[in-house]
Amino acid sequence: MDNLPSPAPRCGLSSPVTRRAVLGGVASAGAVAGLSACADPSTVAASSTPVSPAPGGEGTVAATTAELPVGSSKSVKIGKRTYLLFRPAETTVLAYRAVCTHAGCEVSVGEGEFVCHCHGSHFTRESGEVTAGPARGPLEKFPAEISGEDVLVYL
Ligand code: FES
Repeated sequence: MDNLPSPAPRCGLSSPVTRRAVLGGVASAGAVAGLSACADPSTVAASSTPVSPAPGGEGTVAATTAELPVGSSKSVKIGKRTYLLFRPAETTVLAYRAVCTHAGCEVSVGEGEFVCHCHGSHFTRESGEVTAGPARGPLEKFPAEISGEDVLVYL
């Protein structure tokens, strides 16, 4: 055996961890430590994509991926309620209740943001946070995911 330095550890997981398990916060501590140990600037930048809360229960088909191209937003009805969808990346979708946290008016899709036309509040598509009042609280967020051609929201 020669005295070559051992190769750098590969950034991978020792056991398979599903995306759902990671998002659900049930990944083992070792897997999480492995992920953080492998972080580099390019990975960190890529991982800044907003994350939806972990799905649970049975999802409702709110749209198809064809109806919600990457980078787009859409208002959808599920039952009697209206929700706002935003797809920041190919495999990521975010869902919010379209009820303004100021006085309960319906929030709609604006130019790169969500807007309440009653009194002019604006919310980000990436987090639902307020960017302009009078609303002070963020939009209520719901777990959502893309499954095949379907956009699922978990209510
Ligand atoms: S109800 Fe939305 S800004 Fe007032």
